[in-house]
Amino acid sequence: MTAALPRPTELAQSILQAAIRAGDTVIDATAGHGHDTVFLAACVGPGGRVLAFDVQQPAIASARAKLAATGLASRVEFHQTSHAGMARHAAAGTVAAVMFNFGYLPGADHELTTTAPETLAALDAAAGVLRPGGILSLICYPGHPAGAAEARAVEAWLDAMTRRGWKAAKYAMLGTLRPAPFLLVARAARDRWSPDQENIEEKPQDHQPAEDHERPPREPGAGRAQHQAVGHRRQQDDPMTGQCRQQAANHPGC
Ligand SMILES: C[S@@+](CC[C@H](N)C(=O)[O-])C[C@H]1O[C@@H](n2cnc3c(N)ncnc32)[C@H](O)[C@@H]1O
Repeated sequence: MTAALPRPTELAQSILQAAIRAGDTVIDATAGHGHDTVFLAACVGPGGRVLAFDVQQPAIASARAKLAATGLASRVEFHQTSHAGMARHAAAGTVAAVMFNFGYLPGADHELTTTAPETLAALDAAAGVLRPGGILSLICYPGHPAGAAEARAVEAWLDAMTRRGWKAAKYAMLGTLRPAPFLLVARAARDRWSPDQENIEEKPQDHQPAEDHERPPREPGAGRAQHQAVGHRRQQDDPMTGQCRQQAANHPGC
């Protein structure tokens, strides 16, 4: 018998489940049909709080209905607004985990999708509300041009955050015909970043294990500049592919 490899959505949930504690405040930045909202509401327990964001009323309605069926609705606050404004609803440095599942609402208008500029603003906001050591989970869909551009921007942003003491990992299927959805998971720095750190010199590459190399922080927004360069270089490499089948496969029941 062959064991099935976990999908990005399953992997994200299993990583977050281990990190979230009862009573935590967490954020579902893209509520959609509410699968992750329900998962997060179960993780935080009766004393915890989930803030769930989506720009679309049908998504909020769908997620609310899913939650009502679970009896966990009192743990969740819905906000029909962009995730870029999440810092207006959570205090800085207080959130245990932020989940993003980019793209569009399955079964709805595919044009109403997450976009790189808004996503980058939301990632900056997420970095501000996460507590030291908090977890950020990001599922990217590079199978269509807008999703590919967004995925490159997100990866560049996260790469820049590793220079500020964040740890990050990427999980993706290999050997797929089309660019497969992938998961990025990051742990925020243990110490909160401050602008004073900007002038720290690069550490020499010595014999420390790779995990322990702390590169110096870069300027806020460095990831964006890098994204533009990387994005330009890779633009022609990604064939145009259909996102719908990949998303449907990753959202059973959506
Ligand atoms: C792939 S779906 C999320 C699936 C969801 N996590 C679930 O478990 O069902 C992406 C969602 O992001 C939402 N979205 C797009 N732009 C957004 C923004 N700026 N802020 C918040 N949500 C946004 C879309 O409306 C869509 O519902």
